[in-house]
Amino acid sequence: MASPTPASPDARDWWRRAVVYQVYPRSFADADGDGLGDLRGVTSRVGHLASLGVDAVWLSPFYPSALADGGYDVDDHRAVDPRLGTLEDFDAMVRALHAAGIRVVVDVVPNHTSDRHAWFREALASPPGSRARSRYVFRDGRGPGGDEPPSSWQSIFGGPAWERVTEADGTPGQWFLHIFAPEQPDLDWSEEEVREDMLETLRFWADRGVDGFRVDVAHGLVKDVDGHLDVHVEILETGREGGNHPLWDRDEVQEVYASWRRDVLDAYDPPRSAVAEASVHPGRRARYADPLGLGQAFNFDLFACGWDADEMRTAIDGGLAQMAAGSSATWTLSNHDSVRHTTRFGVPTRGGAGSQEAAKAWVTTDGRDPVDLDLGLRRARAALLLELALPGAVYLYQGEELGLHEVADIPWDALEDPIAVRSGGAEKGRDGCRVALPWTPHGTTLGFGPEGGALPGMRQPDWFGAVSVAAQDGVPGSTLELYRAALRRRRELTTDDDALTWADDAPGVLHLERPGGWRSVTNLSEVDVALPAGELLLASDAAVVAGGALPPGTSAWVRVAGDDGP
Ligand code: NOJ
Repeated sequence: MASPTPASPDARDWWRRAVVYQVYPRSFADADGDGLGDLRGVTSRVGHLASLGVDAVWLSPFYPSALADGGYDVDDHRAVDPRLGTLEDFDAMVRALHAAGIRVVVDVVPNHTSDRHAWFREALASPPGSRARSRYVFRDGRGPGGDEPPSSWQSIFGGPAWERVTEADGTPGQWFLHIFAPEQPDLDWSEEEVREDMLETLRFWADRGVDGFRVDVAHGLVKDVDGHLDVHVEILETGREGGNHPLWDRDEVQEVYASWRRDVLDAYDPPRSAVAEASVHPGRRARYADPLGLGQAFNFDLFACGWDADEMRTAIDGGLAQMAAGSSATWTLSNHDSVRHTTRFGVPTRGGAGSQEAAKAWVTTDGRDPVDLDLGLRRARAALLLELALPGAVYLYQGEELGLHEVADIPWDALEDPIAVRSGGAEKGRDGCRVALPWTPHGTTLGFGPEGGALPGMRQPDWFGAVSVAAQDGVPGSTLELYRAALRRRRELTTDDDALTWADDAPGVLHLERPGGWRSVTNLSEVDVALPAGELLLASDAAVVAGGALPPGTSAWVRVAGDDGP
């Protein structure tokens, strides 16, 4: 199946400056009315994506899954969850997106399978030491009867990183490693069969016209388990500088990606792209963005920032360094794992104004602590213009174009995230950004599904209707119209030159110059600052006028007369 514009000059390099929109399929749009978003739902909303002006869509997993981790527990990597559709629905979706000039990126989850995967079932039915077990990380337990887990490691989602199995004869047996939930057994990437199978998965989707891949936990595949069973390993620590953590970011993992590049990604015309989700030390990120490997890597530094100019500038400078290594910079403010930045930027200072940590703590109080939602939205709109003014690729998360806030008051018993389920009431987890999108102001599911269809498991709050797509469509000043205008302008203004120069400005102001004579100014201080004189191209707030002041919490793009940029 063809890509949108195979003959165009940017067919090979589109991902470098793309605006990519993340669809979390289960909460995007529900065409069949079962309460769960689906692929035909995505197809039905191509018009929205096209009018937004995105270059590509990244779909979080839509594969068969028990949803123990929102679909990141994959039963079969080369199939569609029947509740979400069929392979024919997938093909129709790709055709519709391509016809609208939108490329398609799919998530792959190579670090683990689900515990319902055929390989894992076979492993459970097979004896210790069998080939079926060697695809996963099975080990004998310690202590009398092997009753103790093989090591003291704790999983990312809480609780031990080892789960004991019952052998086929009914006796308590070996233990298997799960860095995430017990329903997500880790694969053993030293096994050739595991490596070959993932190449097949990549080819399967590339043959169906997929333009690129987002690689889940890209830094986790290769592990040195046996050398460290007797020591305590901090699994939550993923960002070491030296590449010598037993479980994360080991140098050998790049051999895997070199083979993906050589044997699959570059075997297609145009080559398929890939972006690594790798929480590594910033100094190690370039390895994942190597053109001979995956080619691009998410940079979560901006995503981790509070509302602080110095922090953001440092994050941006760090992100720009990726370009020097032959890749592109990448920018993200929110995804399906974070508290929405619209809310984050309104959370008062506690562990850093607007930081992920402060926001998570707020969510865990069910949103009872004071938070300034208007301020958060105002800053989020300003942050969008800052982000879109930067060279490189931008990854948007569904619903941010509506200025959606986090839903903090989902009842505990409706939460689905394993972080919440396993935390014993300590953490509400990531569900607050995964609630079904509102498309219309009224209706039982606010246009998410057909009228009379099932309600989504996590109910949409009442305030969702007022910020729905239809409520904002064509409304001057709405967040949706700001996104549309900003993406349009960005496309007009962006050239092949990725240069960025910081201009001197008042403290707390991020003022940058781009080739072609335009500037982006963001005011993160507490006082008005002067805007450079020139043509006002776009502002995050209607109060900003050409030649006037830029109030706190706003951004503007300005073309400065006689300024050809750096
Ligand atoms: C990263 C994904 O973004 C997250 O949602 C998931 O829980 C973990 N990887 C495990 O697959």
